[in-house]
Amino acid sequence: MEKHYINKNLLLKEEVETGRFAWRSPSNIALVKYWGKFATQLPCNPSVSLTLSESTTVMDLSYSFKDFKSKDISLSYFFENKEAPKFKEKIEKFLTSILDIFPFLAQLDLEFNSSNTFPHSTGIASSASSMSALALCLCSLERELFGNLQDEAEFLQKASYIARLGSGSACRSVYPYAATWGEYSNENSSLYFASPLTKIHDIFKTYEDSILIVSSEEKAVSSRVGHSLMKDHPFASVRFDHAKENIEKILWALENGDLKVFGEILEQEALELHGLMMNSTPSFILMRPNTLVIIEKIREFRAQTELPVYFTLDAGPNIHLLYPANIKEEVRTFIKDELVSFLENGQVIYDRVGLGALDL
Ligand code: PMV
Repeated sequence: MEKHYINKNLLLKEEVETGRFAWRSPSNIALVKYWGKFATQLPCNPSVSLTLSESTTVMDLSYSFKDFKSKDISLSYFFENKEAPKFKEKIEKFLTSILDIFPFLAQLDLEFNSSNTFPHSTGIASSASSMSALALCLCSLERELFGNLQDEAEFLQKASYIARLGSGSACRSVYPYAATWGEYSNENSSLYFASPLTKIHDIFKTYEDSILIVSSEEKAVSSRVGHSLMKDHPFASVRFDHAKENIEKILWALENGDLKVFGEILEQEALELHGLMMNSTPSFILMRPNTLVIIEKIREFRAQTELPVYFTLDAGPNIHLLYPANIKEEVRTFIKDELVSFLENGQVIYDRVGLGALDL
């Protein structure tokens, strides 16, 4: 059921003092992938992701009461303390699109300042961390100005809903450890916002995700275009059904700590996502030759050592290597000895599962 957050009563009746909020929100890595959407950023299939901890965006929002009446959003946007006109344009458009949810935004002068903790030019998308951090700031603002959203679960659910409107997968970033989004067998699952995964084995709460940077070049296909390629895709309905089967299996593995089932679905999902893109019209091959070299090395290492090290991919050439924290030493030695030479500038981001967004 859709929650209706449209509320024309959220208007300030008198002048308010200036204020400021800041949230740190992480990126997430999908295990079962969201690929294909309809209506306003609603997913064609359910997805589940692990919430990361090192790749984050800090979003700082300062506001003051506008001294003139206007129906438009008034904002300035700084990225790492420098004016960022492209971000400004994007956020202005987004905030205008959600004015019926937060009408008071047009009564304020807003100033955003964001920064990312992950290095520049790694090809790591920041939309999940930045849009979730932004959504959390907006919900904090509503709570401060109107006294709403005092209940933590309600607060996070609205933030997840708003983050989804900004960038689909961002809705999963607000929760600790892992989150699902989209409808599956759980009666509380929703198309409109993500839900925290509560049945999760302890081993996954400290899981490692080492991101191997094969290429930092800008993606050949934006996720907006990528999702739209699923509209007339010959395998679309098979894919959506398969994702529904995969989510049930991987949720079982996440609950029971079955690393083999987890890993098999993980790799299948990554390759299915890339297979869909290869079979789209037009077709895209987003893996680079070194992506394949590394995938083969990972599988060889796994066969030889029997260690539960599996990979996944986003819609790009970089590899996320997922493994439990108790084999960190062995895997890091493997990365250094056998994989680093296939990476762009030897870049690896050592990330891990984390506690979700943080109010700063
Ligand atoms: O949130 P978007 O529109 O950037 O799409 C993300 C798509 C994938 O990262 C490939 C999969 C996912 O579920 O995160």
